[in-house]
Amino acid sequence: MNTEEIIEQLKQEKDAVILAHYYAAPEVQAVADYVGDSFYLSKLAAGLPNKTLVFCGVSFMGESGKLLSPDKTVLLPDSEADCPMAHMVREETIQAARRAYEDLAVVCYVNSTAQIKSWSDVCVTSSNAVKIVEDLPNEHILFIPDKNLARHVAEQVPGKHIIIPDGYCPIHDQMSAEEIKKQKGLHPEAKVLAHPECGPKILELADYIGSTSGIIGYAAQSSEKEFIIATEAGVSYELEKERPDAAFYFAETLPVCEGMKRITLEGIAHVLRTGENEVHVEDVLVGPAGDTLKRMLELAAEKGRS
Ligand code: 13P
Ligand code: SF4
Repeated sequence: MNTEEIIEQLKQEKDAVILAHYYAAPEVQAVADYVGDSFYLSKLAAGLPNKTLVFCGVSFMGESGKLLSPDKTVLLPDSEADCPMAHMVREETIQAARRAYEDLAVVCYVNSTAQIKSWSDVCVTSSNAVKIVEDLPNEHILFIPDKNLARHVAEQVPGKHIIIPDGYCPIHDQMSAEEIKKQKGLHPEAKVLAHPECGPKILELADYIGSTSGIIGYAAQSSEKEFIIATEAGVSYELEKERPDAAFYFAETLPVCEGMKRITLEGIAHVLRTGENEVHVEDVLVGPAGDTLKRMLELAAEKGRS
């Protein structure tokens, strides 16, 4: 049997389901039962009937899965798969902002540890951040940890005071606007589709700014034939499936998330077989961090947004 067949057999034996982010390697997306952006994967985790969830993504995704389904076994195929940005918040920053503004809401991007979520009031993902911040009754918002997404939200919700943090995604923040401009020079008709984790110089060039599923959805429905994609290169698997007739160009320095690429077929088969790398969240964090995530799902459901 090949590894794909072994995974299929183990999935049946363990009543397991595989969830993968769009940044996972193509062969991992191919064996997954569900592939999507962070919001979609969180929503699914809260409602799947299976006993075991295998999260093919970085550790905050596994943690979110566990927080939303504490009674399930959640497995991460690689315990070192991590998102550096998910740690870029200090508790003192939050405490200082809470002291400074009585009506402060601490809005936490889902790319954050369970500890950071436990300090926050509501979670958001890149697909619902603008709408959720817009709808909050609070005027003062501390948006953590991503400075680029925070700046984008502040531009879209000008009526609120958004405190911009200093965290960032190394992959998106370091993407070169010059390299995107170079692609635009080579392909002047191409639409630029960018993730809001990119820096402002790239977002200024964008025809569309959205989450990974937003970018894929835009390209899928567009009549255009060429796109410059400013996000992690893993999205090309789904983009090419959706639009085999279109051309997709990335920055010359290909944006690759090391954490996501640690997930392999062998790793998936191994954790399914052994139960290793089970995700545990400290008992004291499960309540507060889980509530922060659930608030996001409730607010998103209220408005029927994805
Ligand atoms: P999405 O919200 O589009 O899934 O983005 C998650 C992420 O990690 C982007 O770097
Ligand atoms: Fe984190 Fe950036 Fe990787 Fe997304 S692409 S998981 S934000 S390091």
